[in-house]
Amino acid sequence: MGAAVGQVPEYIEMVVRWCKQNTRMPVITKLTPNITDVRKPARAAHAGGTDAVSLINTINSITGVDLDSFAPQPTIDGKGSHGGYCGPAVKPIAMNMVAEIARDPETHGLPISGIGGITTWRDAAEFMALGAGNVQVCTAAMTYGFKIVQEMIAGLENWMDEKGHASLDDIVGRATPNVTDWQYLNLNYVAKARIDQDACIKCGRCHIACEDTSHQAITSMVDGKRHFEVIEAECVGCNLCVNVCPVENCITMEPLAAGAMDQRTGKPVSPIYANWTTHPNNPMAKVAAE
Ligand SMILES: Cc1cc2nc3c(=O)[nH]c(=O)nc-3n(C[C@H](O)[C@H](O)[C@H](O)COP(=O)(O)O)c2cc1C
Ligand code: SF4
Ligand code: SF4
Repeated sequence: MGAAVGQVPEYIEMVVRWCKQNTRMPVITKLTPNITDVRKPARAAHAGGTDAVSLINTINSITGVDLDSFAPQPTIDGKGSHGGYCGPAVKPIAMNMVAEIARDPETHGLPISGIGGITTWRDAAEFMALGAGNVQVCTAAMTYGFKIVQEMIAGLENWMDEKGHASLDDIVGRATPNVTDWQYLNLNYVAKARIDQDACIKCGRCHIACEDTSHQAITSMVDGKRHFEVIEAECVGCNLCVNVCPVENCITMEPLAAGAMDQRTGKPVSPIYANWTTHPNNPMAKVAAE
């Protein structure tokens, strides 16, 4: 079932109910990502009796503008329209939406078919770990042919054998409980970036990123030589340098043990979990405490 009804929850529930009443086939409701809160259509489909939801469909997009004709590409008789963004770029958006539904108490246990950018067995495993019972492949099959699915199955089997996972039940939803809302992340978890000097190729990207847009916590010159090293007293553990470094595993985030001195704050790392909902800087927390 496509997204033709605009995915207004009441319509979704109604259409799903009609479908269920008029077929003996399972009804799988496909959800659009072109919505703020994907849990709402999922809940409506669940209320209408859907057997499962599948997501995501494509994301409304304009991929380019022809700067001679000033029309979106591809151009049809001088005009362009939005197209459906898909493939690897949409995988993070799709995985978040799958996880949102998987961990929503109102749709708990509703089977999910994961779609969006799945190209390798690892992509499939990640969707399944977040709660998808199976996955679908569109762009990768269009780009590489159906044989890619055989490669994904073989890769998944190898990984499951290696890790001792006897069946898909061993992996489906295993990551779901580890997805939380940002305000519940442990504020007393402290990690510092560390650069492996043997792996570093001295490209300087980490320094520029941290210097210009983070916390000026990476050197560029030490004793007149090009040298990239983390200044622990400045590092806030934002992960930016890890993401820009072109050398795999060259920069790692190293957690500080409870009790260890955090040179940035001058205080020992607390062993106690604390989150934003109770943080003194949170005005809502203060209101709650008064
Ligand atoms: C050329 C093309 C045509 C599509 N047609 C449909 C369609 O008719 N109905 C539908 O529900 N989804 C359609 N989709 C969306 C895909 O089924 C899928 O949800 C989306 O592309 C994300 O998966 P992918 O990243 O593996 O492509 C289409 C996608 C592409 C690329
Ligand atoms: S983790 Fe952030 S603050 Fe720390 S060195 Fe890397 S970019 Fe700078
Ligand atoms: S980005 Fe990586 S390789 Fe480049 S200087 Fe920094 S640590 Fe070295």
